[in-house]
Amino acid sequence: MAFLKTLKRTHYCGGLRKEHVGKTVVLMGWVDTRRDHGGLVFVDLRDREGIVQIVMNPADPQIASAHSVRGEFVVAVQGSVRSRPQGMTNTKIPTGEVEVEVSQLQVLSEANTPPFVVDDPKVSELLRLKYRYLDIRSPRLQNNLTLRHKACKIVRDFLSNEGFIEVETPILYKSTPEGARDYLVPSRVNQGTFYALPQSPQTLKQLLMVGGMDKYFQIARCFRDEDLRADRQPEFTQIDIEMSFIDQDDIMDLNERMVKTIWKDTIGYDVKEIPRMTYFDTMNTYGSDKPDLRNPLKLRDVAKVVSGHGFKVFDDVVARGGAVKALAVPKGGNYSRSYIDKLTGVAKQMGAKGLVWLKEENGAISSSVSKFFPPEQLKKIYDEAGGQAGGAVFIVADDFDVTCASLSALRNELGHELKLIDESVFKFLWVVDFPLLEYDAENKRWAARHHPFTSPKDEQLEIMLNRDESKYPTLLAKAYDLVCNGYELGGGSLRIYRQQVQAAMFEALGLSEEETRLKFGFFIEALSYGTPPHGGIAWGVDRMAMLLCRTDAIRDVIAFPKTAKATDLMAEAPSPVAKEQLLELGIRLATPADAGKSKQV
Ligand code: AMO
Ligand code: AMP
Repeated sequence: MAFLKTLKRTHYCGGLRKEHVGKTVVLMGWVDTRRDHGGLVFVDLRDREGIVQIVMNPADPQIASAHSVRGEFVVAVQGSVRSRPQGMTNTKIPTGEVEVEVSQLQVLSEANTPPFVVDDPKVSELLRLKYRYLDIRSPRLQNNLTLRHKACKIVRDFLSNEGFIEVETPILYKSTPEGARDYLVPSRVNQGTFYALPQSPQTLKQLLMVGGMDKYFQIARCFRDEDLRADRQPEFTQIDIEMSFIDQDDIMDLNERMVKTIWKDTIGYDVKEIPRMTYFDTMNTYGSDKPDLRNPLKLRDVAKVVSGHGFKVFDDVVARGGAVKALAVPKGGNYSRSYIDKLTGVAKQMGAKGLVWLKEENGAISSSVSKFFPPEQLKKIYDEAGGQAGGAVFIVADDFDVTCASLSALRNELGHELKLIDESVFKFLWVVDFPLLEYDAENKRWAARHHPFTSPKDEQLEIMLNRDESKYPTLLAKAYDLVCNGYELGGGSLRIYRQQVQAAMFEALGLSEEETRLKFGFFIEALSYGTPPHGGIAWGVDRMAMLLCRTDAIRDVIAFPKTAKATDLMAEAPSPVAKEQLLELGIRLATPADAGKSKQV
């Protein structure tokens, strides 16, 4: 294009300000909106940095084509910046004080009428995902992707300055278990065998420590075939970190400094010292191991004060070692029956069998269990739970996990409902001392809570080495999670670095010697050739970007995200492949009848 040869872009549309008045500029961008006004054509021209108004007079032969430009045409213009006339400034956009009087116009690319208007908030997400490249033109996505880039650059600079080396690890690899299903890739050259895409670079980064790299990081892509939620994608990105010759505090301190640097240098936010809390304290106080600390509501244990009065629901749960916990809210004395039914539904969704409520109004306590407790006992329960004048108290009795999960859901619901959450702040938390193992009742076996490479506490190593299964529930991990505003932003641990302990761990998880050899033989062997004590952490980059961009949808910070069904609506992936391609790989699809026999085809 002759125009592009002679004229180079001088400014971004969104960058023009009052100080540019009088300057001749060349802009290139997309037509956002266009208005024909008595011979003059006004266009809002859009590029990555924003929008500016340009004014064209089609009577001028240089810009005769002004009448023909339409939405999403790509144009180049030359013109001079001038102040907008008195009373015509637009305070809603940063360029609102100026406009560009166009002297030359060239249409670089015409556009069909797009299926939706860019950045129209009413357009369904499905349509926006199908035409993702149009959605990416919206300032919202442009800002989010730019902020994500900035944060990643800060991370790279920060870790490089701390002596970390970025190393790439393979994507075509072997199962690296993190609790999800693997994505498998069939091998053409070695038919009948499969690579697994890494769920994380966990074993690889540990092998880099065995290899003496000492301090490693990687902005790494991970793949997990698991149920998707608002903060989960099947492929996502981690800031993956591993270091040798350190203890837990070294890793936590480093990461705390990194949090502060990222938040300060991207959005100018000062993060204060990050508090630390044990897993059990966190669960007992908030009912969740990733609590939103912006929400001031807390749980209290009321097992003692509610039991022994003949209310069977509570007495039975206490007798079998379950938990009875209460959540007090400062308002609620006048909650309606139907609203309490809604709250009961929230608790039941998390497995609770019911929800006991107590309300205080004008000094009197009413309750769903008033027929089981005398008034003075109800008052004691209300006070013990932390109930306030004009407030309400909700109680769940069940196994520890169900009680915690249902009251945590209620805490989130009521925190938002009562507008107790200050959306402008970030509240971080380190959760430490996680249980090492959890019992998987369905498959009747122990599972690693973090992953099988996490070390138990030193003083408990013997339990593992002696295969003392009765004490497995007491094992604590040298593991830590970084939580922010109710999201698990990152998690890590100190690793097992002695071969015998690692072998004992696989045994505890129910892997036979043969299975261990096939899946992790290379890894166990590596541990025998001089392994430094080491540990690390991984952050979810997508979740970090969500928090920084203040969105609660992970798709808002990923350029080409997948739907909740793990599909790409734009490219239509996954998609069937030609028979020949399958044959080449030695794969025959199971008939639906075969598929019914085994889910793991
Ligand atoms: P973990 O499994 O806890 O640990 O993952 C670390 C962090 O990755 C993010 N994350 C996800 N983000 C988006 N979509 C997903 N499906 C998803 N799954 C996890 C979370 C999480 O905190 N190898 C260990 C780390 C270590 O021990 O060093 C690991 O992967 O923010
Ligand atoms: P019922 O006697 O079944 O009508 O129950 C009385 C109250 O106890 C109702 O408000 C139920 O929602 C509540 N309830 C029943 N089971 C539980 C439980 N496990 N935890 C808390 N509340 C419960």
